Amino acid sequence: MVSFDVRHYPSLGSTNDEAMRLAREGAADGTVVHADEQTAGRGRFARRWSSPPGNLYLSIVLRPGVPLSRWPEISFIAALAVADAVEAMLPNQLRATLKWPNDVLLRDGKIAGILLEQATDALILGIGINVLEAPPGTPASTIVGSGGLASVDGMRGKLLGALAGWLDIWQQDGFAPIRTAWLTRAHPPGTRLRLTLGERVVEGSFNDIDEAGALIIDTDEGRLRYTAGDVAAA
Ligand code: BTN
Repeated sequence: MVSFDVRHYPSLGSTNDEAMRLAREGAADGTVVHADEQTAGRGRFARRWSSPPGNLYLSIVLRPGVPLSRWPEISFIAALAVADAVEAMLPNQLRATLKWPNDVLLRDGKIAGILLEQATDALILGIGINVLEAPPGTPASTIVGSGGLASVDGMRGKLLGALAGWLDIWQQDGFAPIRTAWLTRAHPPGTRLRLTLGERVVEGSFNDIDEAGALIIDTDEGRLRYTAGDVAAA
């Protein structure tokens, strides 16, 4: 099982950048860069990730030991770990839901973001969780605003514990149990989705994710498969 070595900073530009730098210097699998705030936090598609103090911002150096083509599977592992950690901090009845490829939602707002980047021979897994502060301008949820109780360090402990568990399952049994667990917490088949891919927008009904984690949707042009894109409810 992976063991985590946490380096905690008061402030960084982006924890992904620092983790990337450490990875290029040879940092071990499981090195964690945690910052109380980020001054240049970033999200998918080069969006800004608002990062004031009060939320969790961390990036993990992973050396997955599987071919590069399988690294995207880790975004589903991360989403499951985030969902577990979030639910552990919330009143019993509240459940996190998942949206392809790796969004974690709570009460229809985004509670966390996950950003995977490649650093030559390592994968940088960046995760932000809204503990106290919701970014302005987007439908977002927070743990505290949803009636949960969490310190940022407590959230980090839960997240790393859950991540170690899911990585272990993946290393033992491959992607199949990850896919099954992800599907039980994701939008049900038939959910209308809008996928944006650069300039292209595709609307359709969610069908499945395949054995590689690609999105399968039914559209007017037939059943299509996507490995990248930004998904919203249609
Ligand atoms: C998304 O667009 O949903 C992904 C957001 C990822 C944000 C996290 S916060 C920690 C790490 N450092 C960054 O600069 N980004 C990721």
